[in-house]
Amino acid sequence: RIAGPCGLVIFGVTGDLSRKKLMPAIYDLANRGLLPPGFALTGFARRDWENEDFAQVVYDAVKEHARTPFRQEVWDRLAEGIRFVQGTFDDDEAFDRLADTVRELDEERGTGGNHAFYLSIPPAAFPVVCKQLARSGLANQDGESWRRVVIEKPFGHDLESARELNGIVNEVFPEESVFRIDHYLGKETVQNILALRFANQLYEPIWNASYVDHVQITMAEDIGLGGRAGYYDGIGAARDVIQNHLLQLMAFTTIEDPVSFSPQSLRTERIKVLSATKPAEPFGETTARGQYTGGWQGGKKVPGLLEEEGFPPDSTTETFAAITLEVNTRRWAGVPFYLRTGKRLGRRVTEIAVMFKRAPHLPFDQTSTEELGQNAVVIRIQPDEGITIRFGSKVPGTTMEVRDVTMDFSYGRAFTESSPEAYERLILDVLLGEPSLFPVAGEIERSWEILDPILEHWTKQGKPDPYAPGEWGPPSAEKMLARTGRTWRHP
Ligand code: BG6
Repeated sequence: RIAGPCGLVIFGVTGDLSRKKLMPAIYDLANRGLLPPGFALTGFARRDWENEDFAQVVYDAVKEHARTPFRQEVWDRLAEGIRFVQGTFDDDEAFDRLADTVRELDEERGTGGNHAFYLSIPPAAFPVVCKQLARSGLANQDGESWRRVVIEKPFGHDLESARELNGIVNEVFPEESVFRIDHYLGKETVQNILALRFANQLYEPIWNASYVDHVQITMAEDIGLGGRAGYYDGIGAARDVIQNHLLQLMAFTTIEDPVSFSPQSLRTERIKVLSATKPAEPFGETTARGQYTGGWQGGKKVPGLLEEEGFPPDSTTETFAAITLEVNTRRWAGVPFYLRTGKRLGRRVTEIAVMFKRAPHLPFDQTSTEELGQNAVVIRIQPDEGITIRFGSKVPGTTMEVRDVTMDFSYGRAFTESSPEAYERLILDVLLGEPSLFPVAGEIERSWEILDPILEHWTKQGKPDPYAPGEWGPPSAEKMLARTGRTWRHP
């Protein structure tokens, strides 16, 4: 799977995402031989840069963040195709210059009229950039060549704004040319959920309400929000990652087997399961919301959210969110899905824990059965990527004591192949025009429909519950599960 002749234009090249993820990913793709020889990378920004200045920025980003070893000859070839166009988004002439640059690249580098535009910019700027791409003819595709647009979340902040945004983008680019990035779908471990479920006979027969008690999906981070107020304040944990990453993890865990691995079948199954999903009520009991206070973490004193630069002292933005979802299909009815995420929690870990019902009858001494936990399949998305299966086993000795043990699969031990970074996979898929791992407009809108009622409830509630750094959220999160006789895992 090597991309054909093409070029990529990035808007927002001075941002963090470009420097830390996009530029290194492009180099890594080149290094793996997956880009066409004449590949062109064009940056568009306000800075007063020449091509060489931009190339230097890319070089520094590659040196610092690329995954694969630096090879001078790969870099030299890539650098020949680097261009920079200076301008602001409302500057018609700048976009005309960009159109000229793209035409020149077609001639000089043989990019064949195939170009992707990566909007690594705040969504507020999407409308003007889309209009400019249309006005300058950059969005025009003839039958022979393609033009695609790549957009990053947030895809709106509720259903209405998401629809509006989709409308604006779709006015210029038909839906099949729009690639919305949810970088979780680019992760190997997320794609592997499909292999685990559909390439085996072992799991699927028990992957349903007859055997599964509940599912916990956790995305915990130990970092705080220093430096991110501009993006995060007023957005909060649920909009930041539940609306996208966690709902997608849930969709991958719950979809029916797709007819094939064609993009159409996968998307159809994702939409189907999201359409059957709704938040469990009453929200006062089925959700929890928190905000980290100042305190100590890992031997260091850390500020609370309200002391972080840029957050107003009365900010009600949540840094922890937990919700309960129901998936009303024959397979899943009655199985609660608990999704939680937070900043400044105990450790960085993302996992999906499928917790099974207890055996209906245990023919052991009462004393030993008390210790017996629940069977679980835990998909470790990151770090320490792998899968753990937990089950009961006899403790060696003369009594029939049973204790929980684990069986472990770890990527590091099982494979010698290195995992590409999520952005590598996704950028390559954009250039190949392979849309399976990109959510469509309908999925985005559906996920806001699921989340909106909870967000409305929280807005009425006012302040989130405080929790100290290093904890697993506020006490209300523990209560939320305790009410149903369950407890959160502390991975
Ligand atoms: C981003 C969120 O989408 O994902 C961030 O905006 C979060 O708040 C990040 O830190 C986590 O990504 P990863 O790949 O490190 O789990």
